[in-house]
Amino acid sequence: MVKVRVPATSANMGAGFDTLGIALNLYNRIEAEEIPSGLDIRVLNSAERIPLDERNLIYRAMNIVFNEVRYKPTGLLITQNSDIPMTRGLGSSSACIIGGMLAANVISGRRLPYSRIAELAAKMEGHPDNVGPALYGGFCVSLMTKHRTIVHSTKIRPHIKFAVMIPDYYVATRKSREVLPETVPFEDAVFNISHASILQAALISGDTSQLKIGVQDRLHQPYRRSCIDGFDEIFKKTYDAGSLGTYLSGSGPTVLSFLDGNYNKFKSEMESFFEANSHQWTCKILDIDNVGAVVSERCRRNS
Ligand code: HSE
Repeated sequence: MVKVRVPATSANMGAGFDTLGIALNLYNRIEAEEIPSGLDIRVLNSAERIPLDERNLIYRAMNIVFNEVRYKPTGLLITQNSDIPMTRGLGSSSACIIGGMLAANVISGRRLPYSRIAELAAKMEGHPDNVGPALYGGFCVSLMTKHRTIVHSTKIRPHIKFAVMIPDYYVATRKSREVLPETVPFEDAVFNISHASILQAALISGDTSQLKIGVQDRLHQPYRRSCIDGFDEIFKKTYDAGSLGTYLSGSGPTVLSFLDGNYNKFKSEMESFFEANSHQWTCKILDIDNVGAVVSERCRRNS
């Protein structure tokens, strides 16, 4: 049996649209094993409607690896136990894709290097900024073109924490990409390159005073803000409560703030603030996961 633990991820990080991402200590734990026949998918710890047949995302990701290495499993038992909220901008689908691909790689004889798994996963997801940190952990800068996927992971000093504020509604990435423009002014492109670069420098150097500038972007948040009830007020409140920088996590609706101290005060101030919002929000204080996906193999006693 193969066990894979995959971290949640927060992508874009403000200005780094489809490029920057970070792994966080909230996990999807996937177990998979080859069985004599059939497909048996079990989902623990979830109230969501997750397909238990060939449409299952973990299963589909496993098949991409099996096809790549020409391996035909006789049957599969897959179990998922995830703490990552689904469709909220915390990389739940990337965790399934990476978990499935790594499990399939072990079952089929560990033939693919991680760089190829990153490529296949980015292609399946359509962008690399969640799958990169889900696989490698840390703070990742990723690039995906028709011909290549590159992920550079940096293990940053964990003195800052990450407040993730998660509402009780979904925003599907596919839908939230539809609100984005096809072209942007040159000036906006330059704005984002410079701000994303500042964010990267601030996180790697530990100069947290620049985070607030680094999260500013003109490529996606201005277009997606209408999907979040009270977007401007929420962002303002996070800064009043001590945020060092706040951005829409992935395609939302989760909002993330960098913090350096006063974690409980921030959490309780935001929770009281959210009482007036039309939706229910939860606030979790998370750490960076500098490890990435962890794979372990266990032999069955009677096998
Ligand atoms: N970069 C992707 C997007 C992340 O913003 O659409 C989705 O989680």
